[in-house]
Amino acid sequence: MYKIKLYNNIAQKGLDRFNDQFEVGTDVEAEDAIIVRSANLHDLDYKDTLKAIARAGAGVNNIDLDACTQRGIVVFNTPGANSNAVKELVFAGLLLASRDIYHGIEWCKTQADNDNLAKDVEKQKKKYAGNEITGKTLGVVGLGAIGIQVANLALRFGMQVEGYDPYISVDNAWSMSRWVNHVKDEKELFSTADYITLHLPLMDSTKNTINKDTLALMKDGVKILNFARGGLANDEDMLEALNSGKVAVYVTDFPSPLLASHPNVVPIPHLGASTDESEENCAIKAADEVMEYLMNGNIINS
Ligand code: MLT
Repeated sequence: MYKIKLYNNIAQKGLDRFNDQFEVGTDVEAEDAIIVRSANLHDLDYKDTLKAIARAGAGVNNIDLDACTQRGIVVFNTPGANSNAVKELVFAGLLLASRDIYHGIEWCKTQADNDNLAKDVEKQKKKYAGNEITGKTLGVVGLGAIGIQVANLALRFGMQVEGYDPYISVDNAWSMSRWVNHVKDEKELFSTADYITLHLPLMDSTKNTINKDTLALMKDGVKILNFARGGLANDEDMLEALNSGKVAVYVTDFPSPLLASHPNVVPIPHLGASTDESEENCAIKAADEVMEYLMNGNIINS
């Protein structure tokens, strides 16, 4: 009997993949494999029996990869399984960054006692006026499964799209999407984009990608979206850029409380992959990866 320990709730459709050769649950002991969503496994008590960890999601920054490498534990993730869900939320963010829906909604919710409602509604039209995304330039930093989907959808919205990925050559990137202007270095993207969206994993090399220096390259009034990981932007530098107007709007995964309360920040909890469809896709993929590895020694991770 193979033992699978769950560190988070995993969609039933994923659990249904396991046959009667598997014992699966949150209190399983001497596990052969772990399936985790967002729980932090950095202080994991590694059992000698542990052979694999599957992250039902893309980012693996909640797993100590060095410790796993030392112990010969294979780490899987589920790239692509949640990219449609994240892409859709990024577009909600893009529209929130362009049209002041966020403050408009807040205003509507406080008008219950307003006797001058009709007149005041007229005034809000000007107050919450925005811009259109059509014809604007979107810079996509990171062209993995999510970034490339965001780039392609932006093209359909009539945006100009620039793409940059530190790990993909311009030639390879071009074969992924030929209508994106693939730039050779991020400086070019930062200096020309009206909107910038981050789709990078959080690693030492990507931490604080948005900082004083990169912000200085950007257009005044740039709008930045970060649905990847808060740590990709330096909070203090971002706050300064928001206060000076360099950054007009920052739509981001829940940042530090200090940033979250800024009027030009739209904070969103880490909801990118939180759809029923995406949770099922990730759970199925993670279950299949673990089963195939434990039963046949095969690594499927694509
Ligand atoms: C991911 O890494 O897959 C996404 O950020 C979604 C998530 O962690 O829930």
